[in-house]
Amino acid sequence: MESSMKSLSSDFALYCKSLEVACEQSNEHQCLKRFIDETLPHVIARIGKNGGSSLEVLGIGSGSGEIDIEILGKIQLQHPGLSIHNEVVEPNPKQISKYKALVEEKCSGLNISFRWNQMSSEEYERQNKEKNESKKFDFIHMIEMLYYVESVPDTLKYFHSLLETNGKLLITQTADEGGYHSLWKKFGSRFVSSCRFFDVPKVLDAIRKKYQIYKLSSDMDITECFIEGNKNGERLLNFLTDTVDFRKNAPANLRDEVLHYLRHPQCSREENGKIIFNNDLCCMVVDY
Ligand SMILES: C[S@@+](CC[C@H](N)C(=O)[O-])C[C@H]1O[C@@H](n2cnc3c(N)ncnc32)[C@H](O)[C@@H]1O
Repeated sequence: MESSMKSLSSDFALYCKSLEVACEQSNEHQCLKRFIDETLPHVIARIGKNGGSSLEVLGIGSGSGEIDIEILGKIQLQHPGLSIHNEVVEPNPKQISKYKALVEEKCSGLNISFRWNQMSSEEYERQNKEKNESKKFDFIHMIEMLYYVESVPDTLKYFHSLLETNGKLLITQTADEGGYHSLWKKFGSRFVSSCRFFDVPKVLDAIRKKYQIYKLSSDMDITECFIEGNKNGERLLNFLTDTVDFRKNAPANLRDEVLHYLRHPQCSREENGKIIFNNDLCCMVVDY
């Protein structure tokens, strides 16, 4: 571990800015929206109690809510006439503010109510256990957030236990053979971050959960990471390494090795003069 570095994900404001750049430079949200349009309707077709009048939805690590709102819209379309109660668990207050603004903009007139929990999934679990509460949900999702939890198996076990009969748990994660996993396998122990890139299907197998898996191909243009002083490039590099000011704060040998490896075929390909990072995604739908 290199001591002069600081984890980006522990700095709410800087993390948000870098995440924004990562979203702009990749087609991740477009890929997820296509999955929500084409595949999610089949997944959610049979959620909910027979004759029930509402659906309970739980989003963990929802960020600024763009993907959550798409999911909620699809659930509403699939189950017209049912009201939706949506709980959000998100530790970053800046993300919650953005999510609330999006709700104002896009959800007026929809039969959806929100409960905001500004906390981590671990705190949510702890709080529920203290209150002896185990409210059940028809649909739970964890979109691109499991990297940050203290224990992936414990998180999956706990939130799976909150599924209602017929409920589904959706997890998305960068693919095991993608650029993030290669980068973090090689350098993770030298970054200060507690982020981990787990093979989630392997964890689901180990805890004996039944799931379907969907692979989505996704790219991220990281060309600007190689232009020293380029603001977007620096933010993207910080996001990829989960480090505040990686170029400045990482020891020179680590910085050079990372910049070199980011161009390696294990992480990226070169196309029309651009460096395109493999951001492939893996979606898992876990059954009740
Ligand atoms: C990569 S972002 C994904 C945001 C959103 N789901 C999306 O796909 O656009 C990861 C999110 O997980 C949140 N997060 C980090 N640690 C968490 C934890 N322990 N429990 C719940 N959420 C967490 C972060 O604040 C961030 O908003």
